[in-house]
This record gives sequence, structure tokens and C-alpha cells, in this order.
Amino acid sequence: MTDLTATLPAATPSGGDIAIPQASPVGNARKVFIKTYGCQMNVYDSMRMGDALASEGYVTTETVEDADLVLLNTCHIREKAADKVYSALGRLRDMKKERNANGREMMIGVAGCVAQAEGEEILRRAPAVDVVIGPQTYHRLPQALKRARAGERVIETDYAVEDKFEHLPGAERAAIRSRGVTAFLTVQEGCDKFCTFCVVPYTRGSEVSRPLSQILDEAKRLVDAGVREVTLLGQNVNAWHGTGPDGAAWGLGDLLYRLAEIPGLARLRYTTSHPRDMDDRLIEAHQNLRALMPYLHLPVQAGSDRILKAMNRRHTAADYLRLIERIRTARPDIALSGDFIVGFPGETDADFEDTLRLVETVEYAQAFSFKYSTRPGTPGADLGSQVDDAVKAERLERLQALLLKQQHAFAEGCVGKTIDLLLEKPGRMPDQLIGRSPWLQSVNVDAKTSQIGDIIQVRITGTGPNSLFAERIER
Ligand code: SAH
Ligand code: SF4
Ligand code: F3S
Repeated sequence: MTDLTATLPAATPSGGDIAIPQASPVGNARKVFIKTYGCQMNVYDSMRMGDALASEGYVTTETVEDADLVLLNTCHIREKAADKVYSALGRLRDMKKERNANGREMMIGVAGCVAQAEGEEILRRAPAVDVVIGPQTYHRLPQALKRARAGERVIETDYAVEDKFEHLPGAERAAIRSRGVTAFLTVQEGCDKFCTFCVVPYTRGSEVSRPLSQILDEAKRLVDAGVREVTLLGQNVNAWHGTGPDGAAWGLGDLLYRLAEIPGLARLRYTTSHPRDMDDRLIEAHQNLRALMPYLHLPVQAGSDRILKAMNRRHTAADYLRLIERIRTARPDIALSGDFIVGFPGETDADFEDTLRLVETVEYAQAFSFKYSTRPGTPGADLGSQVDDAVKAERLERLQALLLKQQHAFAEGCVGKTIDLLLEKPGRMPDQLIGRSPWLQSVNVDAKTSQIGDIIQVRITGTGPNSLFAERIER
């Protein structure tokens, strides 16, 4: 049987694929299989689409063969990400044919950023698709499915005028479905920055912040359901702005201070940030809030001022390094993570060396790096001087070797340290759990399942390929 997930690579927070915990099926209700590509925002959206469908009687399944509805929540960030959707749709078409021949219904929906960017094109290229629904309209999914069942091929990619967050039928159940001890909470969506390589401003629309009261409600519901760590999400999360109870203009720093007051909410994170929106209040929050974890994903993309300018990042390498200094002064134990693009049009060897130099100066704990991928409709696509793929490949290899070395050095540097560990889920061995370090590492430790959700003190004893090992400190 076709395994849709088998060919897909592992999770990255910047446009990889992320497995989502789903509820298990019950009885003979309609079943939906949701496959999530792309960033954490899509993970959150998949949860919410699951909620919207649950209120229509759907249960989620992890087996695509069982599903009456297969929903691909897609990513358009790089060409590869978009291509994956079409190959998945090819496999689904065959499955649907077989199913229909046996007299069983199977519907196929495409959601997310490819849906938004390619709309009609998807219906043309993939005739088996019943519904195409963009990220701003997924609250209309139940309605769209009804129309599709009546024979229509539905496209819903307008930017909806109503607030999708308010219109989610399952909104009040969001907390129940999260079930884990960590959860995402979208506070901001869209982007007005228009970096010249990036599709996000086109697929997600312009920057919108959710109101404070909505965010606080959702955070409290999550905590009531047992969540201990909340990661605030936004394409430009530090551009979040709202109005405080006193009518004052609030930024992300103020929001974090307020969230840190919620009893039981032990840990806060946020992602992804733009260097231009790291204001004083936010940096101060890193200094003063114990709940705010010392880990920051702050993409710079490149180390050459010429390339940064061509990318429309609107800061220099020196601006970025100064910012890092200030953040490290405020919170000396902070671990930094970043995103990099190699082979942006016009990037010379010397420009690339600037990127390596910047990486050497910063010393990242973690990072994601990509070959520049030409995206139709973005200004970068029209630039001459596209870089040869072989050159991109060679630069990527060198950059990744350096970043990996730094990542290992960071992990090695943790050995011997005593840290707080949030126990998250069962480990590979019985009586072992996996927890999260303040720096977002997975840590294996001997502990009982009943302790999931506890924060315990451990000493890091060693490193593995993708995780750390620790022993409990008896108190
Ligand atoms: N909002 C975030 C990033 C969102 S996209 C920010 O501004 O930092 C996640 C990452 O994908 C980006 O940081 C960038 O490194 C990468 N990316 C985006 N467009 C790309 C493209 N056309 N080719 C290669 N990588 C790209
Ligand atoms: Fe894309 Fe730039 Fe916006 Fe990030 S800030 S989402 S990279 S346009
Ligand atoms: Fe991809 Fe859309 Fe996220 S393009 S990275 S899923 S915002």
C-alpha cells in the first residue's frame, strides 16, 4: 500500500515536515488524514483544521488508507517543498481510483501555502483534488467539503474578511486537542517585509496580530489542558503588536511579561523573529523573565552587506552582530539559532566567505541552511546572475560543515551542566523519558511516565547524534 509519509524527510522548524500528534479514530465516523509540510505555523493550522473538522464529526487517523478525507497542508517556500505536493497527489490519485472502484468515497484537499499560491493550477494539474483552501480561509473548510460532496471542485483562496481565529468552530476545544505538555500558539501571521527571495508575503498576506484577549484566553486553555510550555508563533512573531488593558501600545516583550504571569505556564518561547523587530523591551524580557527560555531563532540569511541589501533584509551584518551582543549581554546563556541561504543571485565567493565569517563570530547552537530556490513571482526570480547549482551545492556543504561543528561544540559544552528538564514524552527504553532542555535539545533521562509534565533537575552526562543524555539529581 502507498505510504505517503515514507518518502518525506525529517522535521525542521523552517520549512521541513513535522509529524503531528493526532487523536485516534473511534467508531465509524468519517476519518481525516492530515499531512503537514512546512513550518510550525502549518502545524498549528493543521491542529485547528482538525478542530474544525471534529465539529463536523470527523476523527483524525494516522493511516492514510483508512481516511475518507486526505488533507495536505502544504509549503511553498522552496521549489522542492512545492514539488513534493504534486508527487503526493499523484499517489493519492491512484489510491482514490482504487477506492472509487470499490464504491468508497475518498476526498482530497490541498491546504496551506501551495494552495494559496497556485490555486487553479492545482485543480488543473491534479484532477483528483476536490478542495483547494488557503491558509486564511481554513475555517471555511467544513462548508467547502459540503460543496465538494455536492459535486463542485472548490477553491477558497480569498483573504477572508472575517477573523478566522474567531470563526473556528473548534476554537474552544483547541486546548483539549493539544494534549501534550508543549504547544504552539499563533499570535501573528503574514509578513510585510518582502525579502526578495521569499514567497511568504504572497502566500500568507500582510502582517496581522491577534488581539491580546484572544491570545490570553487560548494560553489559559492550553495550561488548563496540561500544557507547560507555549511557543508563540508568527512569520514575524516579534512584529506582534496589540493594545494592553490600559490602552497602551504593546509589543511582543509586553505580551511575554503578561503571559509569564499565568499560573502553571512554566516556559515561553517564540519563533520566528526578524532582526529588525528585536526591540529593547523584548531584549529586556530575556533578561528578566525566568519563564522565557534562553533560546532564540534569529535568521540572518547571509553575511555580506551587498547580498543582504539585494535580499532587502534592511540591516547590515554589523547591525546583526551588534544586536547579538546586546541580547547576549542581557541573557548570557542564550543559545542562538539561524537560517541561511547560499547562492542568492549575484553571490560571489567573497560574499559567501562573509557568511562563513559571520557564522564563526556568532557561534550558533543550531541552524538551518538552504540553497537559494527561485520562486516565481518574487523579485529574486527576475535577477540576472543566478548562481550555478554546483556552486550552491559546494557552498552549502561548506556552510553546513561549519554549522554542524558549532552544533556539536554547543552540545558538548552542555555536558556536566545542571539544567531544568521539562519531561515531555516516553523515550525508547521503558522507564526512560525524553525531556526538553532550556535550549530546545531532546534529553534522555530515567523517569516514570507519571512524571510527564514535571520539570526536574538533571545533570547532562553525554551527547548522542540528535539528543543528550542526563541523570537525575536527587534532592
Ligand atoms: N519569517 C522568517 C523565515 C520564514 S521562511 C524570517 O524572516 O526569518 C524560513 C526560511 O526559509 C528563511 O529564513 C530562509 O532561510 C528560507 N527561505 C525562504 N525563501 C527561500 C528561498 N527562496 N530559497 C531558499 N531558502 C528560502
Ligand atoms: Fe520571508 Fe523575509 Fe518575511 Fe521572513 S521576513 S517571511 S524571510 S519575507
Ligand atoms: Fe512554508 Fe508557508 Fe510556512 S510557505 S514555511 S508553510 S508560511
